[in-house]
Formats: sequence, structure tokens, C-alpha cells
Amino acid sequence: MLSARTIYGEIFDNDEAFGLLCSIAASGEAQGGWENGMIAALVPGSLAGLAAKIARHGADEDKHGRIFAALRRKRGLGPVAVPPGADYTMRLEAAGIGLAHARLRREEQLTEADIVTYLARSRVTGQRASEQMRALRRHAGDRPGIARAVRVISDDEDNHLACCHEELLRLAAAGHGQVIRATLRAAALAEIAIYRDVSRAVIGHLGQILGWRRPAAAVLAAGIRGVYACERLGGWRRMVSLRMPARRNPLGGPVPAQPSPA
Ligand SMILES: [Fe+2]
Ligand SMILES: [Fe+2]
Repeated sequence: MLSARTIYGEIFDNDEAFGLLCSIAASGEAQGGWENGMIAALVPGSLAGLAAKIARHGADEDKHGRIFAALRRKRGLGPVAVPPGADYTMRLEAAGIGLAHARLRREEQLTEADIVTYLARSRVTGQRASEQMRALRRHAGDRPGIARAVRVISDDEDNHLACCHEELLRLAAAGHGQVIRATLRAAALAEIAIYRDVSRAVIGHLGQILGWRRPAAAVLAAGIRGVYACERLGGWRRMVSLRMPARRNPLGGPVPAQPSPA
């Protein structure tokens, strides 16, 4: 029977599929680490208090990249190139969501408006990351090595998301509310379409590796279309709401110098 549990199980148990999943994940995490690291160094003086939190976010993403690479290596697998169409972060950047990499590479100080753009993008993609890691966590339950690693990442992603809520609410109270709402809406509507396309690409590659038959592949493709339809109809709103987290300042504290993988 085709269920999320059996699909994850097939991926976890197949070296080639697992290597691809780890490689795609590690690449996305490293990209996030680079972006956050650059942004942390370019925060404007008026928002200087945010720099350490963004640096912490970047350090966490780098750590996640190392964790996925370590999971792959533990299976004796080499890195795999991310297939075209499966690069979520690059697709988002190409769609103009978040800050352009060319802009970051110029290393010019950012403005408050840039930070709003960055936080809105992080709020939306953070929701996705948090939900995906919770799903991985649920389905990796009986594989202790994977489950332990995913738990570390999942907790971090929840903190990243909470931080975005808190900082966006702070900026909304400081007068950026209208821009925040519009930026969140645009980011969410773009993200759900990119997520659909990337999911289709990733599932297509995994299906080939795992030899899924045509009916199974068709059911999965329909599932991806169904998720998109639900998100387009109103599910996207969960990605733009703002709520103060119960635990304030979730990314407070020092940036770990050399965080060790789980
Ligand atoms: Fe991450
Ligand atoms: Fe994150």
C-alpha cells in the first residue's frame, strides 16, 4: 500500500535514493547557511540586535548541511549532484523571493526593508522546513541514526520559525506592517508553486531509482497536485500568520563556533 510511511521507508532503505535525498538536503542547508551568514554581516545599524540571531540561524543551517552529509557518508555513499529542477533555494532566488545572491555578494549594507524581505522569506520557507522535518521525524522513528539527526534539525527549524514570527511582529509594531503582509503573501504564493514543482522533480528522480510503477507514480503526482490545490485555496495562509512564540528569543545566546553533528 502506498503511504507516506512506506515511501519514506523505501527511500531510507535504498542507498541510491537515500544518497540523493541527503545530497539535495545538504545542498539546500548549505545554501541557507551561506545566505544567513552573508545577511548577518550586512545588517543595518538600526537592527544591529538581529545580527547575532541571523548568524546563529546561518550556523545552524551549516550544521544541518554537515549532518545530512554525515548521514550519507555513514552509508558509504558519495555526494550526488542536485538534479535540475530539484534545487528549491535556487528556484526561490530565481523567482525573486528573498534577497538576490548578486546583491549579497556585493557586500553592501542592507536596509530595514531588505531585512523585512529576508524575514518574510524565512517565515515562509521556515514553515515548510519545520513541517518537512516533523514529517521526516515521524517516519524515521524506527531508524535510530536518522531519527536522532533529524530530531536535532527539526528542533532548530522550529526555533528559526519562531524567531521569524517574533522579529516580524516587532518590525510590524515599528510601522512595517503593511509591507510585511504584502511580502509574506507574495513569498507564500510563489513558494507553494515552487514547492510543487520541486516535489514533482524530486519524486520523479526517486521514482526512477526505486522503480515505481506507472500507477504508483501517477498517484504520487496527483498527491502533489492535490497539496498545491489545497495550499492555493487557503493553506498558504498558515505560512503568513504571525504569532508571538511562547519561548521568546529562541535564537538568543552565542553563535556556536563549531557545532558538532548529531
Ligand atoms: Fe535547516
Ligand atoms: Fe532553518
